[in-house]
Amino acid sequence: MERLERFFLIVAGILLVGFLAAVGYAAVGMHIHLPGHGSQIHYTSEQGLLKVVRHTPPFDRPGLRQVAPGKYEAVFIARTWSFVPDKIEVPRGSEVTFIATSGDVVHGFYIAGTRVNMMLLPGEVSRMTYRFDHPGNYLLLCHEYCGHLHETMSGEVKVQ
Ligand code: CUA
Repeated sequence: MERLERFFLIVAGILLVGFLAAVGYAAVGMHIHLPGHGSQIHYTSEQGLLKVVRHTPPFDRPGLRQVAPGKYEAVFIARTWSFVPDKIEVPRGSEVTFIATSGDVVHGFYIAGTRVNMMLLPGEVSRMTYRFDHPGNYLLLCHEYCGHLHETMSGEVKVQ
């Protein structure tokens, strides 16, 4: 083997090991995972996903609930072509954990003016926490094309 050839093989090998170690450290040491890889709702096609979702906690009780002072959990079901619930109201400064899934096709979950931006896959539970420091009416939008009434699929987060 030529000297240069061996040199670059060794460099490539070191890089490869370095990158794998970095990925391993991020996953195990820093607990960095794909967003929304929380849990999955299992169903059969005879049961129908939407029906199973509606009976699976926490989606059997969609809506807002307080979990601690200033902290809320907001459970949403997305379906063609609406969000359930389509409106929540929280006091200013609240930290809200959004827990959402889709009961049919792929939907989006985007709250305009915030960094809340999730993809809702059928039966996959997505989660994200956000603190609302500024009062206002925030538009909740589906930003994944989900059928012919996609553009009507919206909701609202009201921060007093
Ligand atoms: Cu749901 Cu677009």
